[in-house]
Amino acid sequence: MIVKFWSGGMRLVCELALRPLALVFWSILGARALDNGLALTPTMGWLHWERFMCNLDCQEEPDACISEQLFMQMAELMASDGWRDAGYEYLCIDDCWMAPERDSKGQLQADPQRFPSGIKHLANFVHSKGLKLGIYADVGNKTCAGFPGSFGYYDIDAQTFADWGIDLLKFDGCYCTNVVSLADGYKHMSLALNRTGRSIVYSCEWPLYLRPFHKPNYTDIQHYCNHWRNFNDVYDSWESIKSILAWTVINQKEIVEVAGPGGWNDPDMLVIGNFGLSWDQQVTQMALWAIMAAPLLMSNDLRQISSQAKALLQNKDVIAVNQDPLGKQGYCFRKENHFEVWERPLSNLAWAVAIRNLQEIGGPLSYTMQISSLGRGLACNPGCTITQLLPEKAHLGFYQWTLTLKTRINPSGTVLLRLER
Ligand code: GAL
Repeated sequence: MIVKFWSGGMRLVCELALRPLALVFWSILGARALDNGLALTPTMGWLHWERFMCNLDCQEEPDACISEQLFMQMAELMASDGWRDAGYEYLCIDDCWMAPERDSKGQLQADPQRFPSGIKHLANFVHSKGLKLGIYADVGNKTCAGFPGSFGYYDIDAQTFADWGIDLLKFDGCYCTNVVSLADGYKHMSLALNRTGRSIVYSCEWPLYLRPFHKPNYTDIQHYCNHWRNFNDVYDSWESIKSILAWTVINQKEIVEVAGPGGWNDPDMLVIGNFGLSWDQQVTQMALWAIMAAPLLMSNDLRQISSQAKALLQNKDVIAVNQDPLGKQGYCFRKENHFEVWERPLSNLAWAVAIRNLQEIGGPLSYTMQISSLGRGLACNPGCTITQLLPEKAHLGFYQWTLTLKTRINPSGTVLLRLER
């Protein structure tokens, strides 16, 4: 288990070596989401952590250890098996890629045994497949797994990543000594990445680490980050998915309105295609991550994935909901009996609606909705065409405002609908 380290006593303020020009540039950008032109729709890709964690043992487990071979194999498959074409563009390295020490010039270096060709070479390979490469670092003194942290090295590390051809940085928050250095560090790295002139998506965990001490200031966070983790790490279990959804519902008033093109709430990776979720639970994760406008970062083994999980992850209609250009995050607007109903406004006056069956006993349950209650009363006024997208596609036809719609949903499953006027 990874223990996040906090020492409350000492106030160690990270040095902010901001260049005046960058500040001027920043103030011109205004107060909306991080305006680096990136993540205008939620980032899609693959991230190694949930499935492969910090497996360093390439002797015993050559196919599962964190090595260039793993990422090259995933890159090949992302290009050849339809993932890239479905939108999964960013292949992302998480913790445990580094050598235990920086090099003599103070730069981060990849572990020489596990990444013998180096990260620049890997980035070239990934780019040759029409993909982008993400990497991981930490705002504090060490990464969560104990590798060198970026504290005191933000500018050097940003430049190193840009020189290597990195396209996304996941910046973790372990081993940061207090909330001031946490905020300063996240901001400093954002500016440092910007100064390299390379387009690098900036994925933060700032609010997650701040929350135990302070209410996050999301205006600040969206100003500096392209997406941000708010809550615990996802696990390959239904309990984990349920806890993320429950947290989101409790906090939706605070977090939904801050999401938009360039800045997204990140409920963590998709674990579809692994071991812990039933089919209906996988459908629920996919449907709700689409409603929440969440980054779609799969953590699974693309070398061994069922055709059912693959079809779910590559479902074009569901991805279109997730990637809708209006960029508004959905929310839960009703919880009654054993059901939760979520909705998300889409472009061209369309809406997505997800109905979850919360019951985990018995068989499928029916749920009947007033059409007039959907989309703040607007979605189907005077009528709309309804298509069921999940668990399987079905054209349900035209519904007038005064009608009702009956759905039937498996225990712990979800029905995802698209409503068009
Ligand atoms: C956690 C982080 C995870 C993963 C891990 C690596 O704190 O939330 O997503 O990056 O560190 O050690």
